[in-house]
Amino acid sequence: MVLGIHHVGIVVKRLRDAYTFYRGTLGLPLLREAEVADQGVRAALLGAGDTEIELLEPLEPENGVGRFLAKRGEGLHHFCLDTPSVDAELADLRRRGVPLIDDAPRRGLAGRIAFLHPKACAGVLVELATPDHRPASAPSAPLHLKRLVIGAREPKQTVSVLQSLFALPEMAMNGGPRTMLTVGQGALLVVPADEVGGSEGMVALSLVAEDFDALIGVCDREHVTLLRGTGEVTIEPTSSHGVHLHISRYRFP
Ligand code: CO
Repeated sequence: MVLGIHHVGIVVKRLRDAYTFYRGTLGLPLLREAEVADQGVRAALLGAGDTEIELLEPLEPENGVGRFLAKRGEGLHHFCLDTPSVDAELADLRRRGVPLIDDAPRRGLAGRIAFLHPKACAGVLVELATPDHRPASAPSAPLHLKRLVIGAREPKQTVSVLQSLFALPEMAMNGGPRTMLTVGQGALLVVPADEVGGSEGMVALSLVAEDFDALIGVCDREHVTLLRGTGEVTIEPTSSHGVHLHISRYRFP
């Protein structure tokens, strides 16, 4: 059982530098920062409404996150689903023969966590977490998660894998090759890789702004590189540590 997207993980070279954009420009509040020894990272969780953004700085070049940074550069690394019992969820996945990185849950920054193997989920790295405590109400933040965009060579197959693993309901769309899966307050949008320059895996993150005009004003002042659309801007990866970041005026569509 999955309650929502707990966080989206982004690999960065240096937390300090990433803070300038994510905390300074976007204004996301820092919730926690700590060294996670068994992942070899210094990690931070920033509040984004019902969800969180996790920034990961590798402490050595030879661990998983360090190799990711060397090979792919900064950018989207994994997403994490909130589940009431990571132990039960993991046991169920193991019983079904789903490839896992962690055979047993361990301590992470988000609580008790475990990673599935990327080959379990069409090349996307998925983490499960049972947080230590859930706040009664989400901390206020200037941005909320709208959706995470996943590029897939075989979109239908990727959608059915995600649905069979996590029982995510499909949101009605007007046909076409795109599929939206509801995850709590957020969504996963699976699009054909051809529509996103041939990229597979997590390709973009969409957030909705509490005060769109004020935020764009700050971005302009800070010389953030962005493309303007209707009711939405796209911040270029050069300004946002490797992430195609859509910021919307409206939560829907
Ligand atoms: Co994580």
